[in-house]
Amino acid sequence: MSFFEHRQGVLHAEDVSLAAIGREVGTPVYVYSAAAIRSAARAFRDGLHGIARKHIAFAVKANPNVAILRLLADERYGADIVSEGELRQALAGGMRPQDVLFSGVGKSNGEMIAALDAGICQFNIELEEEGVFLSSLAQAQGTRACAVLRINPDVAAGTHPKISTGQSANKFGVPIADARSMYHRLSRLQGLRLRGIALHIGSQISDLGRLEEAYVAAGALVAALRADGHAITHVDLGGGLGIPYRQEDQFPSPAAYGAMVERVTRTWDVTLMFEPGRLIAGAAGVLLTRVLWVKPGVEHPHVIVDAAMNDLARPAMYDAYHRFAAVAPDGERLVANIVGPVCESGDTFAKAREIDAVSRGDLAVFHTAGAYGASMASTYNSRALVPEVLVDGGRYSVVADRGDGSQSLSRQHVPAWLDAPLPALARA
Ligand code: LLP
Repeated sequence: MSFFEHRQGVLHAEDVSLAAIGREVGTPVYVYSAAAIRSAARAFRDGLHGIARKHIAFAVKANPNVAILRLLADERYGADIVSEGELRQALAGGMRPQDVLFSGVGKSNGEMIAALDAGICQFNIELEEEGVFLSSLAQAQGTRACAVLRINPDVAAGTHPKISTGQSANKFGVPIADARSMYHRLSRLQGLRLRGIALHIGSQISDLGRLEEAYVAAGALVAALRADGHAITHVDLGGGLGIPYRQEDQFPSPAAYGAMVERVTRTWDVTLMFEPGRLIAGAAGVLLTRVLWVKPGVEHPHVIVDAAMNDLARPAMYDAYHRFAAVAPDGERLVANIVGPVCESGDTFAKAREIDAVSRGDLAVFHTAGAYGASMASTYNSRALVPEVLVDGGRYSVVADRGDGSQSLSRQHVPAWLDAPLPALARA
């Protein structure tokens, strides 16, 4: 079911008209549905009902807004973080440190110390030296860091190359062939409490077979590690389950995913950990935008909207498709390019697409923008950071303010020496 539907001809987020939000908050703006977040979180947990011991950690990178994290904390979700900033977001959102796990191929010394100080539940180690260093940090603090070793199963996720992570050429994890000897060496370190393995082969995955292949490899490694005498209690299966962006797209349901996981892991006897991001937040958000101009083009008109690639980077970065819909469509259709105001031809949301006819001043949305939308926004072209609104039933609040151009000015400084006379030039 969608939480964004037309009522009496006007697109609503739950019970709130997007025309009202556009008028009152301005555009561009991300609008999230709390009910959609809760519903996705519950559907994923329900899909895993057959898994007795599990921990679900939302991949904060998908949507780090504290209000979204608060909703998920209320759903008993933990957090999968990749930076100290995400650690702060998760804690501010009300997640408990013991429900936070730290992924990431390049954790800085300061980030590891901050995570140890916070008392997070697990470090996902990406290379042997990281484990050795983490152990020494923990020992110096008189503690042991709970950790799992991330393996690279060398499985193609069948998704966009920029978001594939589980093949041997990728930077992530350690080669599965080296995992046994490495695990043995790491398990002897005094500052580590090594408890299992992790993997994550990519994002926006549509083929459960790819995930299954990786999980089967992980299962074989668990058996081998146990044969080596290690107590394996946790396996982190990562995130990656994809969602439909086009209306006709077919994706495996959380229930189908859960059934596969249950079948593959039945004999593992571990706590399974999951790191879904897109699946939880993707369909729960739209990017609301206003049409600035409709400009004639050679083949098709350019619909110039006030949102741009800095607000929603996915089309420019991955040629991603986001469904476009008028807030108050009149039934007419139009074939057009949809573009933003940024000074790059790559600032294109769609080319030669049949859309609701729109004209200057009309409101429209890009659907399925709740994950990797606001979290990837920037101020490129010195544009204001895009604000965010959360709707819950008939009420709504601004949950992230619109930045303004002066924010970047307040961070920048003209050095005093640029104001001084130019002695070098004067001599020349
Ligand atoms: N765990 C790890 C270790 C990850 O690297 C990721 C995503 C996730 C979990 C969550 O994956 P999900 O369930 O959301 O697929 N910006 C790209 C997506 C990048 C995903 C990066 N890692 C996009 O907009 O498509």
